[in-house]
Parts: sequence; C-alpha cells; structure tokens
Amino acid sequence: MTQVHISQHPLVLHKLSVLRSVETDHRSFRELVRELALLLCYEATQDLQLSQQQVTTPMGKASGYKTDDTIGLVPILRAGLGLVDGVMELLPSVQVWHIGLYRDEKTLRPVEYYNKLPTEPTVNVCLVLDPMLATGGSAVATIDILKNWGVQRIKYLGLIAAPEGVERLTTAHPDVSIHIAAVDERLNDIGFIVPGLGDAGDRQFGT
Ligand code: PRP
Repeated sequence: MTQVHISQHPLVLHKLSVLRSVETDHRSFRELVRELALLLCYEATQDLQLSQQQVTTPMGKASGYKTDDTIGLVPILRAGLGLVDGVMELLPSVQVWHIGLYRDEKTLRPVEYYNKLPTEPTVNVCLVLDPMLATGGSAVATIDILKNWGVQRIKYLGLIAAPEGVERLTTAHPDVSIHIAAVDERLNDIGFIVPGLGDAGDRQFGT
C-alpha cells in the first residue's frame, strides 16, 4: 500500500513558503530547492538497510552501523536537477542516472528525450527526484522505466503535488512511497499546480 509522507517539519514548511513567493529570485530559489531536498531526503531514508560494523574510536571499540543499500538518484530533467545537490550532501556515494522527459503542452503527456541507463541495474534503491507532481504522468513514466530496468525499491521525492498527481501515482505504483512538502488544491486548465510555485524549471534556471 502506498505511503504518502507530507513533511510537517517546521524548517520544510518555512522554506517552502519562501520558495513559493513570487518575490523569491532565481538564486534564492535554487538554494531553497537544495535545502528542501536535503531535509526531505533525511525523512525519506528512514528505512534504509543497516548492518552492524565495529568502529575503533580514540578510546576503544564501539559497535556501529553501515548502510547496505546501493542508492541511485534519478532526477527527471530538467527541474529534478535542482534536488540532486541537497540529496548528495547526505548521500555522497550515490549514483546519478538522468531521465529526460518534457511534458507536451497540449496533451500534458510526458515525452522521453534522454535515457542512458545501462542494461543491468547497478543500484537496488532509486530515489526519483522532481519538484512538481502535477498530473503524475512524468513520475509514472519514470518509475515504469526503472521497474523495467529491474529496480523494485523506489521512492519519489518532490516538493509540491496536486491531488490528481498523488492519485495517479499511487494507483499506478502503490508500492512507491511518496515524500513531499505539500499537497496543493488542484491543477488548473493548463496543468499547473495551484497555488504551487509556478514553473520549477524556469524559476531555477532563469528561463
Ligand atoms: C515539469 C515538472 C515535472 C512535470 C510534472 O516539467 O518538473 O517533470 O512537469 O508534470 P506531470 O506530473 O503532469 O507530468 P516540465 O515538463 O515542465 O519540464 P522541465 O523540467 O524541463 O521544466
């Protein structure tokens, strides 16, 4: 059954509000996306697998742990790129596999334009990164690609979702947990999340 985690952390709620503002410039916007990615990643990685490992301290031996999962980040180009740096601050050894999709403006369907995944999967957990879950088409298409690649443990990490996107993703992939900062009111007639934050790609990259 799908788990939808909407962060209640005060720092997430504060930073998301600044991010939404029309007065936030590109530089601040990118920095906030990076910080939010780090905070949401902390929450999304609570169930990583651990094994015990002894560690030598300056004072003796301590029992410790190491994470066993091999993790792949899958930013959906373009807007997902902004989430990579924040996640990598917590997970510096991850692999990053880019998937390029754009949403056709008329049909709102995702169109794939970049995919260089190797034939065999090289990770056992994937974090799909994309700030906006609007219709859910891009997330569902990306997760379809990853499951066909052979990865079964997949999490979606984003900033803002529309109820329509959550419904579509949870129906298509009920095993994928969703980690986001907010679920907004609705999609408008051109597929933008309302009130949302505008176009996350354009606001990050000044286009
Ligand atoms: C935006 C966003 C998601 C997608 C969400 O990307 O970053 O990838 O739309 O919409 P969906 O849930 O309806 O599929 P966009 O297609 O604008 O491309 P960009 O990242 O290059 O700006």
